[in-house]
Formats: sequence, C-alpha cells, structure tokens
Amino acid sequence: MSRRRALIVGASRGLGLGLVERFLARGWDVTATVRRPSAALAALAGAGPLRIETGIDIDDDAAVARLRAGLAEAPDFDLVFVVAGVATQAGTPAGLLPREVAGAVFQTNALSPIRFAESFHRRLAPDGLIVLMTSKLGSVSLNRGGGWSSYRASKAALNTLARSFAGQHSGAAWGLVLMHPGWVRTDLGGRRATLDVETSARGMVAVLEARQGQRGCVFLDYTGATVLW
Ligand SMILES: NC(=O)c1ccc[n+]([C@@H]2O[C@H](COP(=O)([O-])OP(=O)(O)OC[C@H]3O[C@@H](n4cnc5c(N)ncnc54)[C@H](OP(=O)(O)O)[C@@H]3O)[C@@H](O)[C@H]2O)c1
Repeated sequence: MSRRRALIVGASRGLGLGLVERFLARGWDVTATVRRPSAALAALAGAGPLRIETGIDIDDDAAVARLRAGLAEAPDFDLVFVVAGVATQAGTPAGLLPREVAGAVFQTNALSPIRFAESFHRRLAPDGLIVLMTSKLGSVSLNRGGGWSSYRASKAALNTLARSFAGQHSGAAWGLVLMHPGWVRTDLGGRRATLDVETSARGMVAVLEARQGQRGCVFLDYTGATVLW
C-alpha cells in the first residue's frame, strides 16, 4: 500500500512541528510549509519523507497560489491541515484593540484558512480530509468567561466559515474537521498549559487516521470528543 500523504501548513514550531513529527512517525509522507526556514523542522528530514516549502504566509494569496503551482505534479493529499494561527494581544478586550490588530487576527485565523481550503480542496485524494485548527475557545455555547475575546471570535468565525464551506461543497468526496488540540504548551498556549505538544499531536493524528474516509463537518478535540459549537 502506498504511503498516505499529508500537507501541514504552518509547521515552523509548536503544534505544526509536532504534527509533522508524529505523521512521519506514523509512516506518512509529509509536505510541510513555513514562512521562514525552521531549523527544528529541517531536523526532522531524517525521520521520514519530508518536503519543506518555505515562504508560505497564509495571508498572502500569491504565496498560496505559488505553493499550489509548485505542487501541481505531486500526488494528491489524503489530508490537508491548516495549523497556522495567531493570538496577537489576545489579553486585550476586542473593543480596546487597535483595529488593524483585530483585523489581522481575523485574517490569519478565520479568513486565510478558508481561502487555503478553497485553493487546495481539489488536491485532495478521494476520501481525504481538510482539517482546520480551531479552538474550544471558538465555541459560542461554551463561552462563559469571555477572555481572549478577539481570538475567540476569530475561531468562532473560522468555525462558521468552515460550516459554510462544507455546505458550499456538500457533494464533495472529502470530509472537514475543525480540530481543538487541547491546551498545549507552545509559544501561543503558554507555559501553564496542561498538555505537551507530543501528547496533543499523538492524539490528533490518531483521531484523524480514524476519521479518514468520513464526510461531513465535525468539531473534535485531540481525544476524538465532539466539541459543542
Ligand atoms: N497551544 C494551544 O493551547 C492551542 C489551543 C487551541 C488552538 N491552538 C491553535 O493551534 C494552532 C497552532 O498554535 P501553536 O500553539 O502551535 O502556536 P505557535 O507555537 O505560536 O505557532 C504558530 C504557528 O503558526 C504559524 N503562523 C502564524 N501566522 C502565520 C501566517 N500568516 N502564515 C503562515 N504561518 C503562520 C507560525 O509561523 P512563524 O514561526 O513563521 O511565526 C507558527 O508555525 C493555532 O491555530 C492556534 O490557534 C493552539
């Protein structure tokens, strides 16, 4: 059987890097994108078949088009996972944030992943998966504390855009997963987070391997549990 193929978008560090490591360990063929060269990612080259594409900022449509063109001859992907995200000035209430900061968070966390999916869904193998990294903080019904308001709203917007994207492509042969990785110790998650990257990545990959071939749009966490919208 040929190796399964994953495209991991935003793999320089944190969860993207951990996912590349885990997919390689599971025998997948991985293409990983970064904005700038990442020594940590390059160091994974010995762990399995890894192709690295640099200069890919998901907010830059020309860069995404360049990536698509560069991969035109490559076989289709079984899984396309947009991991990249930001939490710029997340502690400042949205109403007090400079407009350009709030707008940039929405671009990167909500609009750019959907534009990436729009650009790449035809590159999915039959029964493939599009996976978008969201957060439990993007759940409207679970929002009681209200903190990290601009980040929460950007992920809630991503969830809504993803459901619309799935509806728009309701006859497609792929499935769509909105993934909550848990609260993970990364630059974004901070040192107090409850999970290490390896545990989260191990869980997410197991969930996604089990999900392969299933259609529809679901909101799952790294244990496979459904998260409320
Ligand atoms: N850590 C958590 O507890 C947690 C919880 C829920 C959801 N998440 C989500 O998980 C994802 C990864 O987060 P993380 O914790 O691994 O954060 P991280 O360590 O800060 O890593 C963020 C990654 O996103 C990339 N990135 C940011 N903006 C980008 C852009 N415009 N184009 C391309 N790449 C971009 C970064 O690349 P550079 O190195 O070039 O900056 C980096 O690889 C995010 O979507 C985040 O919202 C994290």
